[in-house]
Amino acid sequence: MRAVLVTGGAGFIGSGLVHHLIAHTDAVVTVLDKLTGAGNRDSLTGVPDERLRFVRGDVCDVAVVDELVAGQDVVVHCAAESHNDAALRDPRPFVDTNIVGTAVVLEACRRHDVRLHHVSTDEVFGDLALDDPTRFTEASPYRPSSPYAASKASADHLVRAWVRSFGLRATLSSCSNTYGPRQHVEKLIPRQVTNILDGRRPRLYGSGAHVRDWIHVEDHSAAVLRIIEAGRIGETYLVGADGEHSNREVLAMVLQLMGQSADAFDHVRDRPGHDVRYAIDATRLRHELGWRPQHTDLEAGLSETITWYREHEAWWRPHKATVEQEYEREGR
Ligand code: NAD
Ligand code: TYD
Repeated sequence: MRAVLVTGGAGFIGSGLVHHLIAHTDAVVTVLDKLTGAGNRDSLTGVPDERLRFVRGDVCDVAVVDELVAGQDVVVHCAAESHNDAALRDPRPFVDTNIVGTAVVLEACRRHDVRLHHVSTDEVFGDLALDDPTRFTEASPYRPSSPYAASKASADHLVRAWVRSFGLRATLSSCSNTYGPRQHVEKLIPRQVTNILDGRRPRLYGSGAHVRDWIHVEDHSAAVLRIIEAGRIGETYLVGADGEHSNREVLAMVLQLMGQSADAFDHVRDRPGHDVRYAIDATRLRHELGWRPQHTDLEAGLSETITWYREHEAWWRPHKATVEQEYEREGR
């Protein structure tokens, strides 16, 4: 694998993957990123110039995508509109980028016969009840509940259709909630950490009983690389690290790690249609490809993540006020 294109490589997962590819392969990485509010060129700081080509552009732009895909060994498609709250404000960009953009990437990979890995989410399966003893597997039915999840589910269906109808060499991964450095301050953990750093009280949606299955971004990246190396074409691999916690529990850890009292937060309006619980059974990935998560201590991972936000205020500061103004308008 000499040449890899990462779409959305200035975003949270994409930049984590680029850093991982630089550290663990010899590949030269091309990043195509539109730098929407969620993307940040500084997330690629530290990647040596000779290993990185950065192109600002849109995955929906057929000419740009076609030119960049030609000559690659692998394309990893991470570019997406990714935030549920943003999709509830305006779903249209989710349809454009996540569905149409994926179709553009698929067509370019088909034209140039390039191997594709499509980065998806466990949210395509909808949610589970809190007392449901089961977890999502590769056989779980698609039941997306939010506009974001529905757009990602649509993209997954396109990828599978291109594999079956055109023989495209593609794999998919559906990963659970990912945390770590370089995640936008609109998402749960960075929002609360930066709120506390700013002297604001964290905001918990509804009761806070909702459960997410947390995985560190380095483990997510390692899983994607393993699937690129050894995954079976046409297959989906669920990625998760047995990290189920309620939002209340995660916030309690953040408060404690940052020296705040346990009740120093506010309950705010719940998210409409809020998925209750996600949980991943990653048996296929573990058994078939030998992947194992390294960051299994959530508290230790959160502590390192908090340190990163403390030390990188210049990275998040420009976005914080705008994000909070939008939440403020919605009573969150
Ligand atoms: P992100 O919002 O941090 O990053 C998305 C990146 O895509 C940004 O850099 C943005 O500028 C870029 N982008 C958006 N629209 C574009 C367009 N039209 N053309 C080119 N670039 C565009 O999101 P993320 O959390 O890094 O998510 C990336 C992928 O990983 C998504 O497909 C998401 O579904 C998936 N995923 C995320 C998580 C998570 O917890 N964050 C979990 C599982 C799967
Ligand atoms: P988020 O990070 O937006 O990820 P996702 O919607 O993909 O799960 O939210 C994670 C959980 O945290 C979700 O249940 C919503 C909740 N949440 C809050 O309680 N407060 C907040 O300020 C945010 C942004 C999210």
